[in-house]
Amino acid sequence: MAVIADRCPHIQVTVVDLNESRIAAWNNSDLKQLPVYEPGLDEVVARARGRNLHFSTGVNDAIASADMVFISVNTPTKQKGVGAGQASDLRWVEACARQVAQYAKGHTVVVEKSTLPVRTAAAIKAILDAREPKSVVSENIPTFSVLSNPEFLAEGTAIHDLEQPDRVLIGGSNTEAIEALATIYSHWVPNQKILRTNLWSSELSKLTANAFLAQRISSINSVAALCEATGADVQEVALAIGTDSRIGLKFLNAGPGFGGSCFQKDILNLVYLSRYFGLPEVATYWEQVIGLNNWQQTRISRLLVQRLFGTVTGKRLAILGFAFKANTNDTRESPAIRISLDLLEEGAQLAIHDPKVTTTQIAADLGKAPSDPSLDLQSEGTWHSVNNVVDAVQGADAVLILTEWDQYRELDWPILARRMRTPAWVFDTRSVVEPYQIAEAGLLLWQLGSGIDQGNL
Ligand code: UGA
Repeated sequence: MAVIADRCPHIQVTVVDLNESRIAAWNNSDLKQLPVYEPGLDEVVARARGRNLHFSTGVNDAIASADMVFISVNTPTKQKGVGAGQASDLRWVEACARQVAQYAKGHTVVVEKSTLPVRTAAAIKAILDAREPKSVVSENIPTFSVLSNPEFLAEGTAIHDLEQPDRVLIGGSNTEAIEALATIYSHWVPNQKILRTNLWSSELSKLTANAFLAQRISSINSVAALCEATGADVQEVALAIGTDSRIGLKFLNAGPGFGGSCFQKDILNLVYLSRYFGLPEVATYWEQVIGLNNWQQTRISRLLVQRLFGTVTGKRLAILGFAFKANTNDTRESPAIRISLDLLEEGAQLAIHDPKVTTTQIAADLGKAPSDPSLDLQSEGTWHSVNNVVDAVQGADAVLILTEWDQYRELDWPILARRMRTPAWVFDTRSVVEPYQIAEAGLLLWQLGSGIDQGNL
């Protein structure tokens, strides 16, 4: 919405939420305090806020005065009831649709921005239509068109992805509504990149795009394990296959497994839909992508324990990176959570560093309060967070790199090595370190997808 406001100064954009503190944070004069960390977002907000971008808790008034309403609420995986663990929980989407139905005036285009299961638009339209008395024709009776306009931005590169999208997808049946939304995007997106489809294709394309991307990661992660076993190198393999233009080089970085709020949720959704529509083979096929991702995470904690002589009880380990990827403070489904929990279960003492994730967030993710490292030297299964890498490695037997933050590419390994207990290890799951620098510092290295395992030399 900030980018739309930035690119279309003649359109008034009002972002509304029931959560007062969140809206207050979006209105904070200190742009560093915006609730979402996203490179470049502060500049966009600075340009548009107060001009044609407004943040407010006045939900009903904003609906009443809007020509177009974007429903952009959470659709997490359902925790209980029918479809628990797979289907999306649509309670917030439904609540929004009911509120829009109640307060809208005139003709309103309702746009699904949240990622939704296929055919949700039908449910939204049914709720909206329940407000439209069919028999009465009057200017004061609200009318609605529903569009699907899924978002393809990735966190960390959101502003770039929005300003220069590969495509914009608009699904719907009402041409006038589709063109009204297309006109907004056409202020900065070339027309040939604005794809118009039917509603169901648009909804399904969003789930499918994420499923394909996640599948690529599970594929390369499965090959990474094979590389380690055979002496091949996953980066060389990725380059060799990626230069085939049919495969392409993007999204072939092996790592600790995909995280983030979308991939797992969207695949589970696809799995649920496939079963619902009587296609169990399709469901099983996509389930494997998640199965491999879970395996990848557990295999990392297991092999770390193995290399530290089969036990990490009471040992200090430095975890570098807790966000699910670099350039975000988001930790949802981050592989660091499961891997850290496994290591805590094994009795390790973790010193966790991340440039953007707060201690409070880590505590919430691990379901466990941090310990005081100065009081608790002998403890098992404890963690604390540190502000710099030097403190993280103090007395550690191993460093485990889980997020590809740029600063981890430039670490002074000889200085860090001196603070560690020997034999000291670096476990690099993101291929951010240079093996020769680790060797020169006298450290042992395990690098994901690399068949050259120094621990075995
Ligand atoms: C993803 C999609 O990339 C977006 O197109 C989509 O709009 C978004 O989900 C969404 O549905 O909202 P995002 O979750 O922000 O975006 O992040 P990605 O860059 O896709 O990364 C997801 C995970 O895959 C991260 O944990 C990342 O480290 C991992 N990854 C990514 C790899 O392990 N290897 C790669 O080569 C790429």
